[in-house]
Amino acid sequence: LAQIDIDLTPVQVGQSITVTWRGKPVFVRRRTEEEIASAASVNLAELRDPQPDSARVKQPQWLVLVGVCTHLGCVPLGQKPTDPKGDYGGWFCPCHGSHYDTAGRIRRGPAPLNLLVPEYAFLTDTSIRIG
Ligand code: FES
Repeated sequence: LAQIDIDLTPVQVGQSITVTWRGKPVFVRRRTEEEIASAASVNLAELRDPQPDSARVKQPQWLVLVGVCTHLGCVPLGQKPTDPKGDYGGWFCPCHGSHYDTAGRIRRGPAPLNLLVPEYAFLTDTSIRIG
């Protein structure tokens, strides 16, 4: 489907869901206050692909990402509560060890770029349309 609508109502603070959009996994995380603060406090000069957290979200508590590692395309871990989230609390790609932060930005490992933020819009306070 070119566009999909997602109901965010069931997603609790700190939880993530994965949906499929154009054949790819899309990660939606309802970030905690700590995750938001951590993402916002990073010195951009330290980033390989410098982007402020504010440029990667529409509402701070909701982070929406294409769940495909920008190195060679594996699906990073970090969606399930038991998954490793890497050294920066976001996602960890087990293929070659890329670590992404709580804004989905690359922080360590071979991936060159941040996880992609897909086109999306809020339809209501609790639903989004991707695509
Ligand atoms: Fe993710 Fe290589 S594909 S680190």
